[in-house]
Amino acid sequence: MFHPLRVAEVRPLTDDAVTITFEVPEDLRAQYRYAAGQHIAIRRRVDGAEIRRTYSLCDPAPGAAEPGPQRLRVGVRMVEDGAFSAYALKELAAGDTLDVMTPAGRFVLEPRPGRFAAVVGGSGITPVLSQIATVLAREPKASFCLVRSDRTAASTMFLEEVADLKDRWPDRFHLVSALSREEQQAGLPSGRLDADRLAALLPAILPVGEVDGWYLCGPLGLVSSAERALRTLGVPRAKVHQEIFHVDEVPATPSAGSVVPDGATVRATLDGRAGSWPSQGGESLLETVLRNRSDAPYACKGGVCGTCRTKLLSGEVRMDRNFALEPEETEAGYVLACQSHPVTAVVEVDFDA
Ligand code: FES
Repeated sequence: MFHPLRVAEVRPLTDDAVTITFEVPEDLRAQYRYAAGQHIAIRRRVDGAEIRRTYSLCDPAPGAAEPGPQRLRVGVRMVEDGAFSAYALKELAAGDTLDVMTPAGRFVLEPRPGRFAAVVGGSGITPVLSQIATVLAREPKASFCLVRSDRTAASTMFLEEVADLKDRWPDRFHLVSALSREEQQAGLPSGRLDADRLAALLPAILPVGEVDGWYLCGPLGLVSSAERALRTLGVPRAKVHQEIFHVDEVPATPSAGSVVPDGATVRATLDGRAGSWPSQGGESLLETVLRNRSDAPYACKGGVCGTCRTKLLSGEVRMDRNFALEPEETEAGYVLACQSHPVTAVVEVDFDA
């Protein structure tokens, strides 16, 4: 659900990144309650077309006793040809209003006792910053080890805020920073963190087998490398959570099944209301539903953000790419509507499940 929210502040973070802070009116605070690691989608019209982008919330999540956040803060990095990021960095100002979706996402760390670790690259620090600050503030028996990879110190987002966490919890927060394009002090890794380097580095800095939850976030290359490294080190998949922030164009890897080119029936339940519509020209489930229900949830349309997650109740689909759903979600029947095409004559999905 989108609501117009007023921008309270746009603050430079690095040469190519800003934070945007939104004010949340009192009557909407409960709806904008979020867990550490979640994101919001922002909607804007450019040249008559609607664009949506998702950005992770970077501040600590509100506690259960609080009514909900008064403010929401996200980090936005300039991306090449980025229609929203260029606007955010160059034009957006305090006092402007943007349509903001209520928080969503399953890359979540709920505070609990334990040992946690994250491997992040670039803007992948954003949700993890919220996770670290939330879990350390709320759970005295939690510790966190952060391995972050950035190009240069000057391009590192939230450099000072991460340093503040270190000052605040020197015994429970361990930080390892790797810069890929800059010489560093002796002893610190420099150069790109690939799977082999991570498999060597991680056991040297923490007892890998004792970590209760791993959080991987950033570009596809780094997240895949970290996942491979953890597999090599024998970490069970169930302990690994990941969120991809950026996918270079990769060829789709369709699963088996030929798409019904025309006329498959898509039945969908959304916000408690069901409808049934014909699909056209091999389009995705999301496109069929959106043509008839403009409130269908989506943001990236690229298989990355997970906003369009829906549960397949009957029929079969072909999902082109999936960088958002965990294996246990696909096993439970969840699919990404923006990437799924009907393979059977009738497909039934539930966006509320
Ligand atoms: S809209 Fe982002 S994964 Fe489908």
